[in-house]
Amino acid sequence: MKKNTLYIVLMLILGTSCSFDTPEKDLRIAVSQCSDDAWRQTMNEEILREASFHPNVHVVIKTAFDSNQKQIRDIESFIADRVDLIIVSPNEAVPLTPVIEKAMNEGIPVVLVDRKTSNSQYTAFVGADNFQIGKEVGVYTANLLKGKGNVVEIRGLKGSTPDKERHEGFFSVIRNYPEIKIVYENDGGWLRSQANEKMTDALQKVPTIDLVFAHNDEMATGAYEAIRIAGSSSKPVILGIDALPGTDGGIQKVLNGTIDATFIYPTGGEKAVQTAIRILRNEPYERENILYTAVVDNTNARVLKLQTDQIIQHQHRIGQLNTVLDLNLAQYSTQRILLYFSLAVLFIILVLLVLLFRSYRHKNRVNRELGLTNLAINRQKEELSEQRDQLITLSKNLEDATQAKLVFFTNISHEF
Ligand code: FRU
Repeated sequence: MKKNTLYIVLMLILGTSCSFDTPEKDLRIAVSQCSDDAWRQTMNEEILREASFHPNVHVVIKTAFDSNQKQIRDIESFIADRVDLIIVSPNEAVPLTPVIEKAMNEGIPVVLVDRKTSNSQYTAFVGADNFQIGKEVGVYTANLLKGKGNVVEIRGLKGSTPDKERHEGFFSVIRNYPEIKIVYENDGGWLRSQANEKMTDALQKVPTIDLVFAHNDEMATGAYEAIRIAGSSSKPVILGIDALPGTDGGIQKVLNGTIDATFIYPTGGEKAVQTAIRILRNEPYERENILYTAVVDNTNARVLKLQTDQIIQHQHRIGQLNTVLDLNLAQYSTQRILLYFSLAVLFIILVLLVLLFRSYRHKNRVNRELGLTNLAINRQKEELSEQRDQLITLSKNLEDATQAKLVFFTNISHEF
């Protein structure tokens, strides 16, 4: 038991006072988001959760609220702050390219997420293949319409790369079906409200609509609301992209019947941070990190919902564990300070005890020496007093002899 306690104390002292492995240098990762919506917030949460597993990684997030100018300013400020790496989802490709090039030229690595710029000047990309998603939507549409029907396409923000790529992928399939016609096509800016307006417009202009392809679930919801308000007798099939989990996500919307199918567009926040850390540690990394996609419709929405709900619960639990861990770490550091303090006090007490013991021993030695000197002095004193007595006796004898001599000489002189 005693041995164990000693071991623990030793480990504590060693573990706290001297850390053998050099602590990792602080890494500042800046995130520039183009918009603020559920999809972006999910990505931001993933980024922060992944970063929380690395105590030396500090993340700062800025959102441009769909403004190119604001995003350029955000990235300029990150460059001025000399952050270690920037994760960017460019609102539009062309306007954002120069500032991203500037960051690269100043030696700040850039990880693009979800959207791209107009050239290949970036360190790494994390996101799904939007051309491929568009193609998959095309194949799904062709199968559903059995090669014939009228399609409305509500596209994403013009100038952002996913809009262009999703459209091109979709069209690369649809053009093989001459009887499938894109009867209306417009920019919904990735926003529900804009898609609602465009769908209302389409309903007024086109008499028969068989399918609506909205480039994301938000816009698909906007289109659904417009169709509901118009009160048309036959509801077209509505397809979206994103398939976010959660109560307001695309998977739930498929279950509710708001949209008929959606395609998973992974947010990839964890992968973005993992790639960023590998770049900053000079470890090997993939330049193109293409994330998976899959369709979500009434055949698999329920099982996916169960799984994603469980994942959300686990993530929530991780969040709670992180809070507990932070608390414990704070307690640990206070206890460490207390331990240092107690060790210092103990050390001072030990030094004082040693000094006390030494002075006690010194005093004893001096006392002993004094005793001996005393003894010697006493002995000397006795000897001296003996000598004095002898001298007294001697002088007495001398006096007696002198007296006798005097008496003798007196008597002799009388005789003479
Ligand atoms: C979120 C979002 C998603 C879409 C993606 C495209 O801001 O609009 O809904 O899939 O961006 O970049």
